[in-house]
Amino acid sequence: MCGIIGYIGEKQAYPIVINGLKKLEYRGYDSYGICVLDNEKVFLKKRVGQILEEGESEFNGCVSIGHDRWASTGGVCEKNAHPHEYNGFYVVHNGIIENYKELKEDLIKKGHIFNSDTDTEVIAHLISEEFNGNLEDAARKALKKIIGSYGIAVVSPKDKDKIVIAKMSSPIIIGICKDGHIVASDPSAVIDYTKQIITLDDGEMAVLRKDSYMILKEKKIETIDWESDSISKGDYAHYMLKEIMEESKVIESATMGRLLDNNVKLGGLESSKERLEEANKIFLIGCGTGYYAAKTGEYLMEEIGGIDAEAHMGSEIRYRNPRLDRNEAAIFVSQSGETADNLAALKKFKDAGVLTLGVTNAIGSTQTRETEGGVYTRCGPEIAVASTKAFIGQITVLTMISIFLGRQRNLSEKKAEEVIKELRDIPFKAELILNNREEINNIVQKYLRFKDFWFIGRKFNYPIAMEGALKLKEISYIHAEGTPGGELKHGPLALIDENCPTVALCPRDSVYDKMLSNIEEVKARNGKVIAIASEGDNKIKEIVDDVIYIPKTIEALTPILTAIPLHLFAYYFALALKRDIDKPRNLAKSVTVE
Ligand code: M6R
Repeated sequence: MCGIIGYIGEKQAYPIVINGLKKLEYRGYDSYGICVLDNEKVFLKKRVGQILEEGESEFNGCVSIGHDRWASTGGVCEKNAHPHEYNGFYVVHNGIIENYKELKEDLIKKGHIFNSDTDTEVIAHLISEEFNGNLEDAARKALKKIIGSYGIAVVSPKDKDKIVIAKMSSPIIIGICKDGHIVASDPSAVIDYTKQIITLDDGEMAVLRKDSYMILKEKKIETIDWESDSISKGDYAHYMLKEIMEESKVIESATMGRLLDNNVKLGGLESSKERLEEANKIFLIGCGTGYYAAKTGEYLMEEIGGIDAEAHMGSEIRYRNPRLDRNEAAIFVSQSGETADNLAALKKFKDAGVLTLGVTNAIGSTQTRETEGGVYTRCGPEIAVASTKAFIGQITVLTMISIFLGRQRNLSEKKAEEVIKELRDIPFKAELILNNREEINNIVQKYLRFKDFWFIGRKFNYPIAMEGALKLKEISYIHAEGTPGGELKHGPLALIDENCPTVALCPRDSVYDKMLSNIEEVKARNGKVIAIASEGDNKIKEIVDDVIYIPKTIEALTPILTAIPLHLFAYYFALALKRDIDKPRNLAKSVTVE
C-alpha cells in the first residue's frame, strides 16, 4: 500500500517523479504529494485524489521525492498526504509505525508541533531531533526508535544532494540510470529509465547521490525483463480489460518451455526436488484472489498431484498454530510477492522447517527472495487493482506443479500426457472466450438492475465461484457471494428469489448433474440463472435464463476457462455502472499492511 518514488540526477526531477507516481498509483490513490529540492529552496505540493496532471516541469530542481497514498493512519486530506516535513526534513513512507503514538507524545512534550494525523510525521520529527549535520546518521538513529514497517525516502536542504532511503518489511528498489538514480516501491516505476535495479533488504539503508549510491553491504544488480509498453494501457480503456485480454497469452507464457511429453520442467523446483518427493502434505497460502488460486491448487494437487493439500488465507494461518514439520511444503501464491499477511505466514512456515516455495509474478519481490524456490507466473506487470491475468497465471502454474508432484508419485505417463496435451490447447480455447466478449457484455446489460448476486460451483469450480463474486463486488460495488453449489440448501437458498440472480459454473464434468440440481433449486425459487457451460450443452439452455459457453476441456482445466468469462462479466458490469474500474474505492493493489 502506498507508492514511494524519488530521483536524484542531472535531469529535472519533477516530470520523472510525477511519471513514477502515475505508474505506482495502483498502490494507493487517495492523495499524492511531491517535493523538489533546488539548492536551499524546496517546493512542496500535495493534492487529494488521483493524479490528473501530465508532469510538466512545475518546479526546477534535480532532487525530488514523491508519494501515492492509501490512507491507513489519518483520514484522506491534504495535510495527511506525504511528503511530511518537520524543520526542513522531508519524508515519504510506505508502511506502518506501530509505536507512533508513544513517540508522538514524547516529542510533543519536548515542544514539537505536529501538522498531520499520520504515523509518518514522527519520522521527520525524530530525524530533526537526531540531526547533527549528516542526514543518514540522523535517519539511522531515528529508525532505531521505530517499531513497525517502512520503506522511506528522506531529503533535506540541510544536507542536500542526497536521498536517504531505508527498508523494513516494505519494498524498495534502486534504479541505476545513466544520469542518476531512482528509488521506487517497485520496478514498474523505473523501467522507462533503466532496467538495472538493486533490491534493498530488510534493515538496509542507502544513500543515493547523482553519480553514486552507497549501501551498507555489496548488492547484486539484477536486470528486469519487462518492457516499458507492458505497463501502458495501449488502446484499451482500462488496464483491467487489457489484462483480461492478455489472459490467453499469459497461459502461453506461463507454460512456454515448461511442458514436456509426460512431465513438466520447472527450474525453480529443481533444488527442492528431493524434499518435494518426500513431502506428505502441501499447504497453499494466498490472500484474496491469490487465496482462490491456492484453493484451486488444493483440488489440483489432490487430484493430479496425488498428495494431501490444504489451502489457507495468509491473513488467518499466520495467527493459527497448525502442527508443521519438515516433511511438508508450503506454496505461497501472490502476484506482488509483497502481501504482508503472506510474508508473515511464510516466516512462520520457514521457522518451523517447512519447505517454502513461491508462485509469484513480481520479479525480485520479497516473496521470491524469502522462499527456497518457486515458479514465476510470467504474466508481466499487472496494474489494475482487480487481479485477473495473474490469477490465470497462478492456476496455470499450480496445474504444472501438480503434474510435477504427480509424476513423483502415482500419476501415470498416459494421464500426465493427457493433461499436458490439453494444457497446450488451452490458450486457443481462452482466446475463443475473449473473442466472445461482446456477447458477455450483452448478457450483463440485462442484469444491471440487480444488487445481489450468488455464484455457485462445485469441486474445481467452487474457488472460481468465489473469484467471480470477489471480482464483481470489488469493482462494481455490487454485493456478491460465491459458495459451493451443494451448500445452497444449507442456508443461502433462503436469499434466492427473483431479485437475486445466480451465476452457475457448470461445465461438463464429474459434478455436472449435481450442478443441474442446484440450478433447479434456484429456478424453483424464481431466481434467474446465468450458466457458464460447455459448448454443445443444449440441455442447459432450456433451464437457465442465459448461457455463456466455454470450449470443452478436461475437468482439471475447466477453472482456467470458467474464470475468464467471470472476469469479463465483472468488467462489463462495472463499466456500465461507470465505476472507477482500475482503482476501485478503498482498495490498493499491493496490500503491505496487516
Ligand atoms: O499481490 P497478491 O496477489 O498477494 O495480492 C493478494 C490480494 O490482495 C489480491 O489478490 C486482491 O484480492 C485483488 N485485488 C483481487 O482482485
